[in-house]
Amino acid sequence: MTSFEPKDISTGKLHGYLLSAVAPRPIAFASTLDADGNPNLSPFSFFNVFSANPPIMIFSPARRVRDNTTKHTLQNAEAIKEVVINVVNFDMVHQMSLSSTEYADGVNEFEKAGLTMLKSDIVKPFRVAESPVQFECKVNEIVKLGTEGGAGNLIICEVVKLHIDDDVLNEEGVINQQKLDLVARAGGSYYTRAKKGFFEIPKPLSTLGIGVDNFPDFVKNSMVLTGNDLGMLANIERLPTEDSVKAFVKDLGARYPNIKTATHRQKHKLARNYLSFGDVESAWKILLS
Ligand SMILES: Cc1cc2nc3c(=O)[nH]c(=O)nc-3n(C[C@H](O)[C@H](O)[C@H](O)COP(=O)(O)O)c2cc1C
Repeated sequence: MTSFEPKDISTGKLHGYLLSAVAPRPIAFASTLDADGNPNLSPFSFFNVFSANPPIMIFSPARRVRDNTTKHTLQNAEAIKEVVINVVNFDMVHQMSLSSTEYADGVNEFEKAGLTMLKSDIVKPFRVAESPVQFECKVNEIVKLGTEGGAGNLIICEVVKLHIDDDVLNEEGVINQQKLDLVARAGGSYYTRAKKGFFEIPKPLSTLGIGVDNFPDFVKNSMVLTGNDLGMLANIERLPTEDSVKAFVKDLGARYPNIKTATHRQKHKLARNYLSFGDVESAWKILLS
């Protein structure tokens, strides 16, 4: 392990570690207006949703590490107290990246990036027409986290209207993650295309899984089962009964006579196979046989 305290390295280096380790991060494509009404559009990956009632999102334009200056988006949010947060999908990732260029005050990044300004219903800043989900927001509060270069400024936004492209909704009116095709930011110049790596984990049992602490030692200390395997095995309400284990093994033995002489290791490997199909009950029956 390489261990150190933040004060022992430069802010720039620390910034790099933080951004690579806390990744991928969703991207808020924030549209604001300056005090003269000029549109501004910039991406921020210090961003997330924090509450549904009230619906709150927070993003953070930081003070530049280089020269401790502040970003136009922060100045605009302080002046106008309204913002539209647009999500970023794969089709617009290069336009989003371009709009992070540090153009001079008053330059309209919608025009630079070739994106379409769409009038909002409630707030003054424009929406990005190409973005599949747009959130019109009021700025409730801005929390400054410091005064030195690198200090974040939490722009706490309350969503006052949502716009969702029908193309990303399924028949039940639920957002289809594959169709939404979001991108996220990682360290350095890395991005990730979320749908290329989706997998599902069903919610843990509401009736409470037994937990690894209740496993027999030969399962808990298995040299074959992984941490993920233990996690799946722990999500069962109670262990199978002795009778159900016997019935399972008898049935299996009819097809695979070798099962009766299988070693612990072979049984654990077979259990892993059942787990790979999500069959926790059968995995336990093999382990307990
Ligand atoms: C994907 C992406 C994410 C970014 N996230 C942040 C962020 O969370 N905070 C920040 O201060 N700058 C972030 N930046 C850099 C700003 O977008 C950049 O400084 C921009 O010029 C600010 O524009 P403004 O001065 O018009 O507000 C990000 C850039 C990219 C490309």
